[in-house]
Amino acid sequence: MESLLKRVKQLPDGFVWGGATAAYQVEGATKVDGKGKTMWDDYLAAQGRFSPDPASDFYHRYPEDIELAKLYGLNAVRVSIAWSRIFPDGAGEPNTAGVAYYHRLFADCIANGVTPYVSLHHFDTPKRLFDDGDWLNRATIDAFVRYADFCFGEFTEVQNWFTINELISLAFSQYIQGNFPPSHHFDVTSGIQAQHNELLAHARVVNLFKEKGYAGRIGLIHVLQPVYAYPETPANQHAADLEDAFMNRFLLDGTFKGEYTDATMALIDELLDANDAHLTIEPGDMEIIKAASTQNDYFGMNYYQPSFVTAYAGESTNSFNGTGEKGTSAFKFKGVGQHVKKPGVDQTDWDWNIYPEGMYDMLKRVATEYPNSKTIYITENGLGYKDEYQGVGQLINDDKRIDFIDRHVEALLQARVEGVDVQGYFVWSLQDQFSWANGYNKRYGLFYVNFDTQAREIKKSTLWFRELGRTIGG
Ligand code: NOJ
Repeated sequence: MESLLKRVKQLPDGFVWGGATAAYQVEGATKVDGKGKTMWDDYLAAQGRFSPDPASDFYHRYPEDIELAKLYGLNAVRVSIAWSRIFPDGAGEPNTAGVAYYHRLFADCIANGVTPYVSLHHFDTPKRLFDDGDWLNRATIDAFVRYADFCFGEFTEVQNWFTINELISLAFSQYIQGNFPPSHHFDVTSGIQAQHNELLAHARVVNLFKEKGYAGRIGLIHVLQPVYAYPETPANQHAADLEDAFMNRFLLDGTFKGEYTDATMALIDELLDANDAHLTIEPGDMEIIKAASTQNDYFGMNYYQPSFVTAYAGESTNSFNGTGEKGTSAFKFKGVGQHVKKPGVDQTDWDWNIYPEGMYDMLKRVATEYPNSKTIYITENGLGYKDEYQGVGQLINDDKRIDFIDRHVEALLQARVEGVDVQGYFVWSLQDQFSWANGYNKRYGLFYVNFDTQAREIKKSTLWFRELGRTIGG
């Protein structure tokens, strides 16, 4: 603790110290003020496991949450705009009540000195576009470009934009793992095509942002999940390389090199061939992607965990999963390895590996291999934990979260000392919120939410994080 406190003094004044949210996970109010449905509403209702309403009721309680953010030393928050609040059907005429809500939210952030970092798409495609094929249908890309253009022109108070959050998690969870709608399992063609189409959408939006000369900065967010061979043998390393190509390298290459390099495509093709899958790249796509690759102003990196991989002999039943949700992931994906536990590496209650070295390795890799990433922000990092409520006004003990964040901030500092340009850290998440596959018992928040009353409580980590924030630049 003391050593980290001393070391964060090296961080410059103005280092971004924030908490992250996503519209569908915090806002609730899914049927309020003209909001349209997303890909989730009917899916969750049919499952009947948990409701996205009221979530953390951020739609109504944002003034309290932003004030708490300020009081507890945060100078930034990540929020996303719900596309279906702005265009309830994904396209058409804007919904003025939805537009007014985000103006109120951004004004409140700015008035409190809490800078908003805003994503345009965080796992919540409007239902009509989803029904028509989501990102697999190129009409979604056109609609996204129009929606983004509208937001840039309308929300001129926002200076920091991200196009899409975690392109791989969305594609993987929808089409490989099947725990996001439309719940395809092992549909490798859709899994790779969705990645390419999302990247193309991002690239078109970045190019438009620059062509039109909008003020501010733009980038995107990838979750990076390093893949280590364990034990280290040539066969295991090859399995790790295949998984890395699908989960990290394909999108990193596209985003910052503007091409899927031959070495990357050799691995991707091996996976596609093994699964009778294919990728369609239309004429002109790569020119658009290339043009955007040098124009991102910064890069948002989410980091949670690595995987450790052992090769299968022959056909495999694989269990690697994009969002790593527990107990949802037995499916066939030929040619990749099996996830194993590495002795000595702790895991969370949801079996996620706790391994800060992975964040350090990925920061170094991105800075070295992808210089077009420019400045890096850790846009999500945190620990999902079953925090125990202690009663109104009572501090919640989450020492494990403190330890988790402590070790990851150390990894960030080490990368900075070695020259990686990291300019911010956002805890996932600002407050406890709705978790896509786990509902409400997996808590990540810096602030505890009593989901019965919506009251906010403080955790030990809230105080500790404030102390670190105060020390920055000191
Ligand atoms: C990444 C996603 O962006 C967020 O929506 C999710 O809740 C967290 N990971 C935790 O799984």
